[in-house]
Amino acid sequence: MKINNRRIPITLILTAAVVVVVFIVLWAGNDFQALRSTEPPIQIRYDMYYQSKSMAQEQSTFFADRKAMRDHVPGTVPRNGTIYAYATPEEAEAAIAGNPLAVSPAVLARGENRFNSFCAPCHSVTGQDTTETVRRGLQKPPNLAAANAKGYSDARLFHVISAGQNIMPGYADKLKEEDRWAIVHYVRELQKAPLKYAEAAPAAQDTTAAAATGTADSANESTEAVQ
Ligand code: HEC
Repeated sequence: MKINNRRIPITLILTAAVVVVVFIVLWAGNDFQALRSTEPPIQIRYDMYYQSKSMAQEQSTFFADRKAMRDHVPGTVPRNGTIYAYATPEEAEAAIAGNPLAVSPAVLARGENRFNSFCAPCHSVTGQDTTETVRRGLQKPPNLAAANAKGYSDARLFHVISAGQNIMPGYADKLKEEDRWAIVHYVRELQKAPLKYAEAAPAAQDTTAAAATGTADSANESTEAVQ
């Protein structure tokens, strides 16, 4: 071939062509990552974008109960987990002197963070409102700043959080003991706000047995929002 009257050897042209093809193939293999586009990326190979793993709350076709998130094996305690030992609020009040956690801005911030993640979905961030759960048919939770909950001892609040109360589930297996006590401090803060509405006292506690086996485990740390 001749360019500007100079002969270019065919081997040079072929080599250049091979280099261009190899470059395009390598770039494609890297999903054309240097291209700026608002379109979804063209993915020649998926790297680790899509993985055969279960995400939180996902349905599973592998397990018979369709839950991807597995319950603790009965009779086992997660590493660093603790067992919540009290079946009734009376037992808890007899055994627990009070909140062992000294209140501080950091403890309140932690309590707020945990409350907003674990309690606000039903009790609202103020503890005094209802939320989407009621609109979707769940029982209306009581106002946490009303006289009833305000009159609860710290031990009883801790017990309700740990073991649950009637349809409210216990959180001993989801929240570490220290975090549950931080929530108790934070609920006390919420109770200082003016009362929005009074709430009739809920029915006496009737379901506590399941909570006695509740445990808190450090494996749940992954669900925590970093503050
Ligand atoms: C799934 C919704 C839901 C979640 C989440 C929830 N609660 Fe409850 N809570 C309820 C319901 C419903 C009741 C009323 C139960 C009853 O009838 O005794 C209740 C009752 C209570 C009570 C007793 C109030 C009283 O007057 O007797 C306290 C205290 C409480 N919850 C605190 C919390 C805290 C703290 C959290 C977070 C760790 C939390 N709840 C998470 C639904 C929920």
